[in-house]
Amino acid sequence: MSFSIIILAAGKGTRMNSKIPKVFHKVGNLPMIFHVLNASKLLKPKTISVVISNELIKYKNVIKKNSKNIKFAIQSKQLGTADAVRCALNEKHSTNSNISLILYGDTPLISHISLKKCLERFKKRNSDLCVLSMTPPNTNHSYGRLITKKDRLEKIIEKSESKNNQNLENLCNTGIMLVKTKHLIEKLRKINDRNNKKEFFLTDLIEILSTEGYKVSHMEFPYHEFLGVNDKSDQALVEYQFQKMLRKKFLKKGVTMIDPSSIFFSSDTEIGKDVVIHPNVYFGPNVKIGNEVEIKGFCHIENTVIKDRAAVGPFARLRDETNIDKDAKIGNFVEIKKSNIKNNVKISHLSYIGDAYIGENSNIGAGMITCNYDGIKKNQTFIGKNCFIGSNTSLIAPIKISNNSIIGASTVVDKNIPQGTTVYRKSELVKKNNKK
Ligand code: UD1
Ligand code: MG
Repeated sequence: MSFSIIILAAGKGTRMNSKIPKVFHKVGNLPMIFHVLNASKLLKPKTISVVISNELIKYKNVIKKNSKNIKFAIQSKQLGTADAVRCALNEKHSTNSNISLILYGDTPLISHISLKKCLERFKKRNSDLCVLSMTPPNTNHSYGRLITKKDRLEKIIEKSESKNNQNLENLCNTGIMLVKTKHLIEKLRKINDRNNKKEFFLTDLIEILSTEGYKVSHMEFPYHEFLGVNDKSDQALVEYQFQKMLRKKFLKKGVTMIDPSSIFFSSDTEIGKDVVIHPNVYFGPNVKIGNEVEIKGFCHIENTVIKDRAAVGPFARLRDETNIDKDAKIGNFVEIKKSNIKNNVKISHLSYIGDAYIGENSNIGAGMITCNYDGIKKNQTFIGKNCFIGSNTSLIAPIKISNNSIIGASTVVDKNIPQGTTVYRKSELVKKNNKK
């Protein structure tokens, strides 16, 4: 039996209180919709259709960059989740499989393993509709509640429709369901918007199919995998959960973390073998760490590659396509931007290195600065191999310091330095006796 995926992403996201569309808010530095798309792709469905609003049309190419073969459906008015599915079904590509898996773009932690388990059971039992359910640890939430009779699911009551005196079980709707596509095509039109929110609720499909005698069931999964994001506190909770998952993954891979709870990763962080990470380190997007690297405390690293046996920090900031090669040492209070630092280079204290290349075995003294910005544009600094740059020097870019050169302490260098040259500025030390 073939299956396709429909992802609902057109909601207004009013509760996020933001100009950014809800599904583009990030978890682990990746928009929520991409988390859902990544899990979807691993299931290898026949088609993935994403239902988007008019506001999201301008994000189409960004979505396509992540997932090439994606199809879109437009929901111009946000009339509810059932209406969003109806919009998807208006496009032929959403009706070409026997089974539809409906995912919500605001539920980013879903694992393809759980979805696969449910899909297999759905096929085996020849089910008509199966809702993925969960039991939150408390009742202070806005999820829809499941009404069951033995293993039969009878209906879902939305929070907005439940009366205070209703004593409902805390078994909740994750928002994800598997349903035979023919039921969507035939029964969705039976859903109306006669409810407190005046919306077409997809969850009403459960009662419709159940009363008509179809096989409607639910399958329970761990709550933390299916947290939904409707507001900023939900997003913070999902981020917290996601960080816990990443820390667990890296600890399992053999990464040493002295205080895991103080280390933040991005969804694409890559870390090699025998890496040690000290407390309070932040990994932004696009960071790759090799083997036997040591990252000391309070470093902020993004868009950077750090190769084997390099040591970084404490208090280092690395960013914007920086490459730190093998055995290099980047010490405290060093900022490096868009630079290529070759093997065994030492930049041990208090430096700003921007738009630079530093050749192997060079030593950069404390307080060396690349003056890369002339007020209009950024300029390049080249330092060759085996150079020794004294403390507190300023290199006025564009500039080239060739191999085996020495720059004396406190020198402002504004001319290219040929290979094997020593330069320093001569300024006399004036010495006077103090008059009594
Ligand atoms: C929904 C479920 C609720 C479930 C919860 C799980 C319904 C009626 N309720 O509630 O039972 O417990 O998710 O997180 O389905 N969307 C559209 N177009 C619309 C409205 C929504 O595409 O017109 C999309 C949103 O972008 C979002 C998803 O559908 O990705 C869910 O919508 P949302 O408004 O967040 O529903 P919840 O109130 O969370
Ligand atoms: Mg939601």
